[in-house]
Amino acid sequence: MVSLVFPRDFLWGVATSAFQIEGALDAGGAGESDWRRWTHRSNTIANRDTAERACDHYHRWRQDVGLLKWLGVRLYRFSIAWERIQPTDGHSCSSKGLDFYKRLVDELLSANIIPMVTLHHFVNPAWIAELGAWLNPDTPKYFADFCSIVVKELGDRVRYWITINEPTAVCGGGYITGKFPPGEKNQTQHYFIAIINMLRGHSLAVRAIRATAPLLPRIGLARAHIYFEPFDPGESTDRRATQVTDYSFNRIVLEPLLTGEVPEPPVEIRHHFPAKVSRQITGLAKSLDYIGLNYYCRVRVRAPETGWETIGGKWVHTEDAQITAMNWEVYPPGIFNILMYYKGLLGDLPVFITENGYPTEMRPGEDTTEDDDRINYIATHLAQIHKAMMAGIDVLGYCYWSLMDNFEWAEGYRPRFGLFFVDFATQKRIPRKSAHFYRNLLKTGLLLEP
Ligand code: NOJ
Repeated sequence: MVSLVFPRDFLWGVATSAFQIEGALDAGGAGESDWRRWTHRSNTIANRDTAERACDHYHRWRQDVGLLKWLGVRLYRFSIAWERIQPTDGHSCSSKGLDFYKRLVDELLSANIIPMVTLHHFVNPAWIAELGAWLNPDTPKYFADFCSIVVKELGDRVRYWITINEPTAVCGGGYITGKFPPGEKNQTQHYFIAIINMLRGHSLAVRAIRATAPLLPRIGLARAHIYFEPFDPGESTDRRATQVTDYSFNRIVLEPLLTGEVPEPPVEIRHHFPAKVSRQITGLAKSLDYIGLNYYCRVRVRAPETGWETIGGKWVHTEDAQITAMNWEVYPPGIFNILMYYKGLLGDLPVFITENGYPTEMRPGEDTTEDDDRINYIATHLAQIHKAMMAGIDVLGYCYWSLMDNFEWAEGYRPRFGLFFVDFATQKRIPRKSAHFYRNLLKTGLLLEP
């Protein structure tokens, strides 16, 4: 069997986010958030799960760093809850909130683990939500101010920053599917306005980080990139629908980050695009040191039957698709194809695989640590990443999503992404077979070709 060799300095890691793992949502004087309020409304979250306790990481962070040490990761990606740092408004600043993350970072550094900090991972403080969240043109400025506070406090120990996680996913949930706060459905103009404001927020945040950081920062943005293909490649309408969908969910964020300009919307959906919004974003071009890629699945696209009522085609599985507990199709070559597509676009800009992961569904009585499917998912995706690296793509590192089972947004605790199984009743963490697999991989940097 052939072994694929990863570079010695490859940054192997795992990822989490604050709201999904921390719990203790009031601790240290933390403020309210849009997501906390959302989870307490009826029928928003599967099984009426909330994130009040989640993985109780707020109290178990030291033990969780122990899990990272055991795995042997070189890097840990986590996020900072804005509402812990600025609980009440743009003038507030909580030293208790900052202290929590300072202790975490210090513990990571003493374990020789590089911290990679996400500054916005889906959740807004309630006071931002009350201002209209990312529809408000002032939110980018508030966000940049928050970033300055964090970087002033942590910038002497943190170099890897991610400004915003998955603008298309958070705005899609908030304004298209209605599964995330504020729960609007098919508010297509809002979708585009919020995304463009997030790009503005990224641009201002980068400026703020560079102006404040004592250590030379490495700044990225983590983009969700879905690999779209036509349901029927022989149908020109499916092919066209795929291009339109690719615009709304991929190109809308990717291209402005490179050129500073939101690309012109396809004619079919131009009426969904806000007429008065400028497509030029100051300071955005060349704002990145690397681009974060979150890759999970392929989506097959069909042409809409009744015209372009929304911003993309219909998402339909083919019969032979291998589907996960999130109803996503497993398709490892998608990540290779995306990386190859980046080749012509990115120039010298390196890529960081900021997320890639496999959800399982726990049924009562099942052995929750036997997860060969997950191992296979990781191995086959890494093999594709390796192939792209051999073809000349500069990939700095890889974060598996996620370190442990956690609160999966609208789906609650049902889908489990963790290398560690979490028993939410006892908060016990148990390494799955995949955790052992990942640990061995990280020891050698060698992957047996799957
Ligand atoms: C995307 C998000 O960044 C993360 O929060 C989520 O849990 C995973 N992907 C899985 O859906």
